[in-house]
Amino acid sequence: MKRVEIKRARSLKGEITPPPDKSISHRAVMLAALADGKSIVRNPLMAEDPVSTMNAMRMLGVEITEARNQKSEIKSNSELPWVVDRTPNSELIIHGKGLYGLKEPLDVINCGNSGTTVRLLSGILAGNPFFSVLNGDDSLKQRPMARVINPLKEMGADISGRGNDGYLPAAIKGRKLKAINYNMPVASAQVKSCLILAGLYAGGLTVITEPQRSRDHTERMLKSMGADIEVDGLTIRVRGYPPMSPLIKGGIEGGLNPLDVTVPADFSSAAFFIAAVLIVPDSEILIKNVCINPTRTGMLEVIKDMGGIVRLENIRDVSGEPVADIHCKSADALKAVKMDKDIMPSLIDEFPILCVLAAQADGLTEIRGAEELRVKESDRIKAMATELRKMGVELEEYPDGIAIKGGVQLKGAEVESYNDHRIAMSLAIAGLAADGTTTIYNASCVDISFPGFFEMLKGLI
Ligand code: S3P
Repeated sequence: MKRVEIKRARSLKGEITPPPDKSISHRAVMLAALADGKSIVRNPLMAEDPVSTMNAMRMLGVEITEARNQKSEIKSNSELPWVVDRTPNSELIIHGKGLYGLKEPLDVINCGNSGTTVRLLSGILAGNPFFSVLNGDDSLKQRPMARVINPLKEMGADISGRGNDGYLPAAIKGRKLKAINYNMPVASAQVKSCLILAGLYAGGLTVITEPQRSRDHTERMLKSMGADIEVDGLTIRVRGYPPMSPLIKGGIEGGLNPLDVTVPADFSSAAFFIAAVLIVPDSEILIKNVCINPTRTGMLEVIKDMGGIVRLENIRDVSGEPVADIHCKSADALKAVKMDKDIMPSLIDEFPILCVLAAQADGLTEIRGAEELRVKESDRIKAMATELRKMGVELEEYPDGIAIKGGVQLKGAEVESYNDHRIAMSLAIAGLAADGTTTIYNASCVDISFPGFFEMLKGLI
């Protein structure tokens, strides 16, 4: 388990391309596997979480080959000496099996640390005519599964999980599903996507309504593949391709067209650098090729309210997603803000790094309506409260959020990642603005979403 030491930074300068988007990479692999024919996924994220999805799809009989692509579009061509570009430049060829072509796995599918893998896959497996068992690491085994098991059961799925259907491991015996009308109690793109995928196997129109808008990569990608899916405000309607035979041996009418997608950089990975530049004086960086899908960029609104300046340049479309270069400069002073439930889904993964920004903003920042953060890879409210206190921050923890008294001089400390990638990276950024040395224990978990994070950071210092 890696221990990393971070020292106060005097300034950050340069140009970076963060790793490819994790959510889009998961979806591209799964949906390509269900398409009729060969798909190309350019610039996929090759980190632990999406690799869990690739392994799962391989266990279900899907052939996935990886090729280096020298001509990748996502390549920095800057001549600047400080350019840090770790873009792996690879592409995946995925031989789609069609909606009903997956095969029964020979063993338990281990989804590792990845909530997206297990939740989305449950929706696919519920409609496939074989037996499968899903499991994960110690963190994933503690994360709620009832949120997908219950609505899948309403669709007629034969699925059960440990602890009265609450947790992994979960067992699924796929069968014919029926369309339902479902009002989601929690805004969650993982739950929504699980039900959309199950809806592909159901007879009729599955209608899903979310309480707040969560990330919509599944909807965009399925639409580009020719699926009959419509988004109307907070409601999503998807028409299924039910099996022709009641024994679900395949033979459906219609299906999904193959994909040819280029995955842009992940806003949630860029977020650490955006925050770093805001809190380290005399800094300026350009973050290239970042997906700025509006369901993901709530942090930019918060930064604007805090008085920080972040500019989006060269806005364009890449494979149906909006993409831009993000130009950031140090902030003279940041001011405290309030965040509530409504904005939460659009910055759900940025909670830990926003806590760090809050610690540097003058006044009391309040983040409420964030109870979902208690069931992420770690309890992120508790993790940030405990570790920021060690760094000298005064704060109050609530069941649904946190209040942070900002504008303090952070102190270097020995801090813990809880094996949560986003906690490790957020504490590293806090360390850049702290006196002395910050030592982060169990820091190798950054590989879940961002292999090379510490090297990229070093390149900017
Ligand atoms: C994700 C959705 C979010 C997010 C997670 C990735 C996705 O989870 O926190 O990191 O790819 O759909 P919820 O949808 O459960 O909030």
